[in-house]
Amino acid sequence: MPTDRTAQWWRHAVVYQVYVRSFADGNGDGTGDIAGLRSRLPYLQRLGVDAIWVNPWYRSPLADGGYDVADYREIDERFGTTADAVDFIADARDHGIRVLVDLVPNHTSSEHRWFREAIAAPAGSAARQRYHFLDGRGDGGLPPNDWKSVFGGSAWTRVEDGQWYLHLFDESQPDLNWEHPQVVQEFDDVMRFWLDRGAAGFRIDVAHGLAKAPGYPDAGRDVNDGKATLDPVPYLDRDEIHPIVRRWRRVVDEYGDRMLVAEAWVDAARRPLYLRPDEYHQAFDFDLLSTHWSAAEFEAIIAESIRSAAAVGSDPTWVLSNHDVVRHATRYGLPADIDPSRWLLDGPHELLDEARGRRRARAAALLTFALPGSTYLYQGDELGLPEAWRLPTEVLQDPIWEDSGHTVKGRDGCRVPIPWEADGPSLGFGAVEGWLPQPPEFRTLAAAVQADDPDSTLVLYRRALRLRRDRLVGETGFDVLDLGRDVIAFRRGAGFTCVVNMGDDAIELPAGEVVLTSGPVDGVLLPPDTTAWLAS
Ligand code: NOJ
Repeated sequence: MPTDRTAQWWRHAVVYQVYVRSFADGNGDGTGDIAGLRSRLPYLQRLGVDAIWVNPWYRSPLADGGYDVADYREIDERFGTTADAVDFIADARDHGIRVLVDLVPNHTSSEHRWFREAIAAPAGSAARQRYHFLDGRGDGGLPPNDWKSVFGGSAWTRVEDGQWYLHLFDESQPDLNWEHPQVVQEFDDVMRFWLDRGAAGFRIDVAHGLAKAPGYPDAGRDVNDGKATLDPVPYLDRDEIHPIVRRWRRVVDEYGDRMLVAEAWVDAARRPLYLRPDEYHQAFDFDLLSTHWSAAEFEAIIAESIRSAAAVGSDPTWVLSNHDVVRHATRYGLPADIDPSRWLLDGPHELLDEARGRRRARAAALLTFALPGSTYLYQGDELGLPEAWRLPTEVLQDPIWEDSGHTVKGRDGCRVPIPWEADGPSLGFGAVEGWLPQPPEFRTLAAAVQADDPDSTLVLYRRALRLRRDRLVGETGFDVLDLGRDVIAFRRGAGFTCVVNMGDDAIELPAGEVVLTSGPVDGVLLPPDTTAWLAS
């Protein structure tokens, strides 16, 4: 194993997240696929990313966009074949890009062979032990406890013979029983399957799930009650998770420079537990996803992420958007007191300031690219795509829409097919209309429109990632500068300074040569909502 920090590629990697279904449609059926993704490798290489994380591409009913896996070793036929995936991983490597695959160990699809066997078998049978099947309360007609699904409603569904099974998400996603030795063994094998086929590692879904409290005690609260999801509940962030992670780490370490990144929605204070030297290499820092455009709030998160990761020998892992949240170009255009997910349905839509959102999104990108650690981009961030928040409810596919009883619109607005060209039935996504309609503003944001425009977000990202690679990779220094209350400023080593103006007035830039800015700059004055990189 390399010990040099620079050789540990994940520590400073720029990872590009691909939601395959919406990235590029190679076979003209309206759904993105591996052929489409492969054809865009030159684009990703030119953008300057080090790795791709591919959202689940396995055989699946797609009840939750593929986070309902029916077979962990087979690619869904809508996306291609397992051979296509293997060829793609090799081709990406030839383009200098590693591929992380998404592993979903908390639950399977209800179409998974194991769950079908469990349903067909009687209560108390061995087949049911791989999941959480329990008798109900009272005369059996009430769920075994008060646990709520993250998507809404009870976390229990009753089967024909009267027993109930647990699903922390949709009822089509039954939770696995991680105390069962076959479950444990199966995921070792699945990891080896993909590592043998060239995967650079895994993004682990619901890494804070897996273990459930013995005896299934009541939670006493609804995980969707609007309070921190992080207050302890008997089925999230339990200490029994960590031996499982240590086991995975041993498997991954057999293969050399592969890595594990945790999707763990836990309190920042608990995150380092997942990052201990024999556990995950990285855990997403999700705090910026729910942070207002405020220098004080950003600064506090940045300081805490750097400090807590360093305490366990890890590095921060910045995230501004992903396939589960309202895109940040839209989030930053909303007043601070608006909850973006509620706003989608019934908010005062006139309050959205799109231009401000775009400006801030560009400024935030340069900020995170300049910080120590690695950074994850979500497809379309580099085009400055906004949330497609006007999607009519009849096209929605996210199970949250149904499971919440039509009170939460869900995540489809950030999953709309990527615009590659200014024309065509799906703006170059494919030969026919995509599986979700694209909003009109996607036309001017298409990759081809931005490709040679020096002021475009795409060109800004390309420049920034090149500068980052040349100047910041391997740089361990990070010194905060005090340039005022509404300003985030820091130096990375001797020759590089980043300044972000999050206030309402222009500020004077410190000495140095301006090498990149997220928007127009007037001499030494840095306007609001703008980031500058300086060499000195
Ligand atoms: C987290 C994934 O990012 C999300 O898309 C999915 O719905 C849940 N985990 C359940 O797998």
